[in-house]
Amino acid sequence: MTLTSHFARLALGGAIALASLGSAQAQDDTTLGFIVKKPEQAWFINEQKAATALGEEQGFEVVRLAGEDGQQVLSAIDNLHSQGAQGFVICPPDVRLGPAIMNRAEQYGMKVVTVDDRFVGSDGEPMEGVPHLGMSGYKIGQQVGNAIADEMDARGWDPEEVAALRITNYELPTAKERTDGATDALLESGFPEDNIFDAPQQNSDTASAFSAASPVFAKRGDYEHWVIFALNEESVLGGVRASEQYGLDAEDVIGVGINGSGAAFAEFSREKPTGFHGTVAVSSTMHGRKSAENLYEWITEGDKPQANTVTGGTLMTRDNWESVREDLGL
Ligand code: GLA
Repeated sequence: MTLTSHFARLALGGAIALASLGSAQAQDDTTLGFIVKKPEQAWFINEQKAATALGEEQGFEVVRLAGEDGQQVLSAIDNLHSQGAQGFVICPPDVRLGPAIMNRAEQYGMKVVTVDDRFVGSDGEPMEGVPHLGMSGYKIGQQVGNAIADEMDARGWDPEEVAALRITNYELPTAKERTDGATDALLESGFPEDNIFDAPQQNSDTASAFSAASPVFAKRGDYEHWVIFALNEESVLGGVRASEQYGLDAEDVIGVGINGSGAAFAEFSREKPTGFHGTVAVSSTMHGRKSAENLYEWITEGDKPQANTVTGGTLMTRDNWESVREDLGL
């Protein structure tokens, strides 16, 4: 082999190596964190999975972390910094941690976007400077209220004789918007305000909703028919489990949740229907992908995402859950 052909071959080899590198992902050095308040809930598992999948497609890394309280969030941020992350997406465990979280992130020069639960500043207002993506809480709540009213109608229930269990979380603005929307839609359908009973939950999970709901059933034993709503399906499931424990039958309960995650799929897959009638499904896949994509573009191209992006939902019941699931890429 002549020297020139040897070089030509080397150069060719190099070109092939470069070409194959290009066709794999163009690995840049971007690393993003994705911190969630409830890492065991299907909604959040799916969001983190979708963000990771986007990173694999586009060549950036996603580090998935749990932030179940303020302390854990701050250590997650330290951890991300030591891994060279340039920013993170977060659904905070408490929206009032916003200023403390931003303080830590800014020390490290990290960019932050919120998903689902939006930071609240010390003035009690949303922190507009932190880009957010979340569901349109009030509208989705109205869909819940309308779905309940329609199902009451289908079952021929007289609203005067129906009790509503409203599982509330007024510390979390998106939760309040959702239960307010559901309440207004129910009232508009002719539901009596006096038949609405509150069960304030401490958290946004099944266990806290179950504890909040149980005493309400015990105190209002005079009602045979119940409807249940809350900020999410995990909480409505807590209410439904409490109704079962109290001794109510599935046909006497109409629970409608929000999310359309694995928690609802598991319930719809049970052999016998339960009091969990349906849920307004929102694409957690889209929330995970879009929030990560917004942050990635901000880091790599300097385009700050818009202040607030809101998403809508579709009613999912035992009858259509599989097709809605497919449509929403869940
Ligand atoms: C809140 C709820 C979650 C989910 C998200 C969606 O964080 O706790 O269950 O509904 O909102 O935005």
